[in-house]
Amino acid sequence: MKSEIIGNALEFAKKFFEGSADGHDFYHTFRVYKTAVKIAEQENADVNLTAVCALLHDVDDRKLSPQTSEYFDNARGFLALQNISARETEKIIGIISEISFKGTDSLVPQTLEGKCVQDADRLDALGAVGIARAFCYGASRNRKMYDPEIKPVSDMNGEQYVNNENSTTVNHFYEKLFLLKDMMNTETAKKIACGRDKFMHDFLDEFFKEINCK
Ligand code: ADP
Ligand code: NI
Repeated sequence: MKSEIIGNALEFAKKFFEGSADGHDFYHTFRVYKTAVKIAEQENADVNLTAVCALLHDVDDRKLSPQTSEYFDNARGFLALQNISARETEKIIGIISEISFKGTDSLVPQTLEGKCVQDADRLDALGAVGIARAFCYGASRNRKMYDPEIKPVSDMNGEQYVNNENSTTVNHFYEKLFLLKDMMNTETAKKIACGRDKFMHDFLDEFFKEINCK
């Protein structure tokens, strides 16, 4: 994989996510790219392939772009303009198709590069940034911040996860975010995830103290 495609993918992602305010802005993609490269270096994966997949990982996301998510039209449109073989294109699309969180239907990526991108994407859902993104996303979908009457749902499959419209953002911590630490693929990501997971638990401890007026 030539490195010029990375610069092109950076530009493409920057234009693509312009104006997005639901926690999936360009800087999410940029952090996933940076973190995925860092993990790939540690894990001896193909760094350039990891970088391109990280930069394209959300352009056909089923929540953000449901109409292109089946065939990855946006990623394919970009790749068609690059000087790469059909084999390389299919490899990239194959990797991207395995990244997304789908509850109990989530896939373990077959390639080391896919594992690095998936870990980087999930790390960005954790910690201080993860908390901020969750509340941004919740607000963008008109979700309540918290409601003691609505309980979290456990062990959701992909369908239930996407259609779980009535839940709250605080429930999202139990429905997804606290599960991620144990779903990391690489040792590098597991270590980072532990600290971020603890930070989110501390955040919710304080949150419930204040909610209960203690
Ligand atoms: P992935 O990045 O694996 O495709 P998602 O699209 O489910 O996973 O999540 C992307 C981001 O949106 C994460 O930061 C996640 O916490 C946030 N998010 C997704 N669903 C919800 C939700 N129901 N409530 C709050 N935040 C959410
Ligand atoms: Ni993402």
